[in-house]
Parts: sequence; structure tokens; C-alpha cells
Amino acid sequence: MRRVLVIHYSQTGQLSRVVSSVCSPLQQADSIKIDFLAVQPVTAYPFPWPFVRFFTIFPETVLQVPQPLLPPTTALADKYDLIILAYQVWFLSPSLPISSFLQSPLAQQLFQNTPVVTLIGCRNMWLMAQEKVKAHLQRLQANLVDNIALVDKCGSAASFLATPMWMFTGKQQAKRWLPKAGISEQDIAAASRFGERIVQRLQADDSVITCSMLTGLQAVTIDEKLIASERVGNHSFSIWARLLYKLGPEHSVRRKLGLMVYVCFLLLLIVTVVPITALVKTLLAPLTKKRIAKQKRYFAAPSGE
Ligand SMILES: Cc1cc2nc3c(=O)[nH]c(=O)nc-3n(C[C@H](O)[C@H](O)[C@H](O)COP(=O)(O)O)c2cc1C
Repeated sequence: MRRVLVIHYSQTGQLSRVVSSVCSPLQQADSIKIDFLAVQPVTAYPFPWPFVRFFTIFPETVLQVPQPLLPPTTALADKYDLIILAYQVWFLSPSLPISSFLQSPLAQQLFQNTPVVTLIGCRNMWLMAQEKVKAHLQRLQANLVDNIALVDKCGSAASFLATPMWMFTGKQQAKRWLPKAGISEQDIAAASRFGERIVQRLQADDSVITCSMLTGLQAVTIDEKLIASERVGNHSFSIWARLLYKLGPEHSVRRKLGLMVYVCFLLLLIVTVVPITALVKTLLAPLTKKRIAKQKRYFAAPSGE
């Protein structure tokens, strides 16, 4: 019997639906026993998000300051043949519940010498978050064998507005003139192909999974225009996060005042850096073709586009 552990967290339920789609073939396979570990923060994060609260968690999220979690309610095995780590991105970092879990003693115990598939559901900027998750997995001595990333389909520019509006109102289509935010229903349904391939590999033999199972399935798509934006954004996020963290604890007036300045800066960053870097990238594309291809291969690994 092969044992698979799925570690997950979802606020709106979107990532839970992605997890269900990927895991349905595994649940139907008699030779596979699958456990689900829902990560639960002691203090639940609100959804929809009040505007200020959404930003007050920014420093802890970016600095990955571990927050208290409830103990798991599922009985867990000592060792798994595969862990599927499903996470969403918050401020170019793994969401706070997931980064907290990755720093817990339980993660230390579960991940050691275990193959891992990361499963991301986010707006469309996940490259830097995955770099941070890779660093956690390396520290935990886990072996990342595949990465699946599903992103919002309404387009990069539109989702800059549509996704935050979803977060603030709780409605996936917050206004009639806005596109629907979130991962498309077709993409969620089609994610079962990853589960089918994982079943094939788990049933093929009893050997340890050491390399990618999902090559050729378009598990990720790298938007080359976002590579530079993510790097610049991530750099500025870490500077601001350290500054705001030092200003005061989460609910202090000093942090809230600092956050107001930061939100204006962030909006400026979004309307300037993202389109400018995208434009510069497009203009320089013929000269930087080789370097971009190398970067794309790096970020697409281990599953590939
Ligand atoms: C506080 C916060 C920050 C977010 N930051 C990002 C981000 O940097 N990049 C991104 O692609 N999506 C970002 N998102 C969108 C989430 O990754 C995700 O798509 C959305 O929260 C739905 O996930 P759920 O399954 O938890 O409901 C953010 C969401 C929240 C709540």
C-alpha cells in the first residue's frame, strides 16, 4: 500500500477544489491510502478581508514569521511515499499558514527524505514564493520532484484589480465590468491529469520517487514578463517588511500609519515597475533570448512547461 499525504490550506475554497481535482484519481486507486492534513491557524484569517487587515499581515508574511497553528485532527503515518504540499501565494511568499507549518516540528518529522509535489493556486505571481518553499524543503531534507502552478486566467493586468476585489468583497466577480477572478473551472477540472500520472507512477513499482512524474503535462507556464517584476517586487517587499515589522506589532497605530505609506508605494510599484519591466523585457527580447530561455527552464523545473 502506497501512502500519500496532502498538506493544504484554503481561504475561499479555491485551492481545496484544485486539491480535490488532483487527488480524485488517487482516492479511487485501491493501492493508495491518502491522508489530508488541513493547516489551521489558531486565529483564522478573515475572508473577505477588511482592507487594512489585508495589509497588516504583510510584514509577517514576507518575513515568514511563524504563527501558532492548531494541532492536526488527522492521525498521521510516520512516513509517506509522497507529500503533496498545496499552497497559495501571499505577497510573493507562501501564505502565512503554510510558511508557519513548514517551520513546525511536525514538518521536520514528515518531510525528511520524502518526495514532494508542490501545488500552487494563485493570481499569477508564484516564482519567488516557490524559491522560498524550495529553501524550506532543502532545510527539511525533502526532495522536490514536481511543481504544479494554476493561475488566474483573466489576464495579468485585469487580475491586479479583479483578485484584490475578490479578496475584499468575497465575490469572484466583484463588479459587472470586472472579469471573474480566480483559476478557471476548466483548469481546475483538467488538474485531475496530474493525479492520474501520479497514480501511474505509484502503481508502477515500489521504488522511491526520485524524479519528475509530470513532465510533458504543462504543470507550469512561465510568464517571462513577470520574472523581473517578481524579483524587483520581492526585493522591495523585504525592505518594506523589515521596516514595518520594526514600526510596531500587527495592530499598532504606528504599523497602520506606515502601511498607508506603503500601500501608496505598492500601487505606484504596480502601475510603474510591472508594465515598465514587461515593456523593457519585450524590447530587449531579441538580445536576451538565451538568458531568458535559461531563466524559464530554471523556474519551470522540476516538471517543465
Ligand atoms: C494577503 C494576500 C496576498 C496575496 N498575494 C498574492 C501574490 O503575491 N501573488 C499571487 O499570485 N496571488 C496573491 N494572492 C492571491 C492568492 O494566492 C490566492 O489566489 C487567493 O487568495 C485564493 O486562494 P485560496 O485558495 O486560499 O482561497 C494573495 C491573496 C491574499 C489573501
